[in-house]
Amino acid sequence: MRKPIIAGNWKMYKSFDEAVEFVEAVREAVPSEEKVDAVVCAPAIYLPTLVDIATETDLAIGAQNMHFEEEGAFTGEISPAQLASIHVDYVILGHSERRELFNETDEAVNKKVKAALAHGIVPIICCGETLEEREAGNTEAKVSGQIRAALEGFSADEVAHMVLAYEPIWAIGTGKTATADDANQVCGAIRDVVKELYGAETAEAIRIQYGGSVKPENIVELLSKEHIDGALVGGASLQVESYLKLLEAGA
Ligand code: G3H
Repeated sequence: MRKPIIAGNWKMYKSFDEAVEFVEAVREAVPSEEKVDAVVCAPAIYLPTLVDIATETDLAIGAQNMHFEEEGAFTGEISPAQLASIHVDYVILGHSERRELFNETDEAVNKKVKAALAHGIVPIICCGETLEEREAGNTEAKVSGQIRAALEGFSADEVAHMVLAYEPIWAIGTGKTATADDANQVCGAIRDVVKELYGAETAEAIRIQYGGSVKPENIVELLSKEHIDGALVGGASLQVESYLKLLEAGA
């Protein structure tokens, strides 16, 4: 059985005080990590403080992006070594907002995944199609291409410990969720790609989240599906009460 992983992606929301207040409020209330992996991916400047507050609790802290280089003249960027030095556990890579707004390519995502693993940070690798691609019947081709590119050049064991996130772009922040069956079908297709590349055991082990307007009202049905092992949640992860409800659904 795969352990569910529920990750909040705060994107560019919350003041410092709000972020601290949130983590102080949830750190003792999150379900045991034996039942569910609870993650909050916060704006980078808050990470050291939030990691400190969450130390020795069942709440893990993640970043929303990073560069693939170790160090260098990359103004404004944050390196995997820097994230590792403050004990960040997870990093979201290849989110559609980064691909669309900041020109992140499949090649860059692959390099970032390699860099994350080299520093013991678990990558949450995003993929997903636009509405146009879905309507043209190209959903599986799109996500499978993104996943193949992101997963190039690893061992089966490394891949087994990664997290993938299927996020249809048309469902992000729109209130439109993919039906649980549609989401499950695409997550199943992603698992088939992993099987083809790295074998059945790895495909059974890797966790695949769904993301896109997940909320307490729809998460239970989504998680009941065979291939959906968790959720990557934007809007509904911003309030303490709804974040805890999402975690309870996974526990
Ligand atoms: O990373 C999270 C996703 O972009 C989903 O955002 O839950 O606000 O639709 P949302």
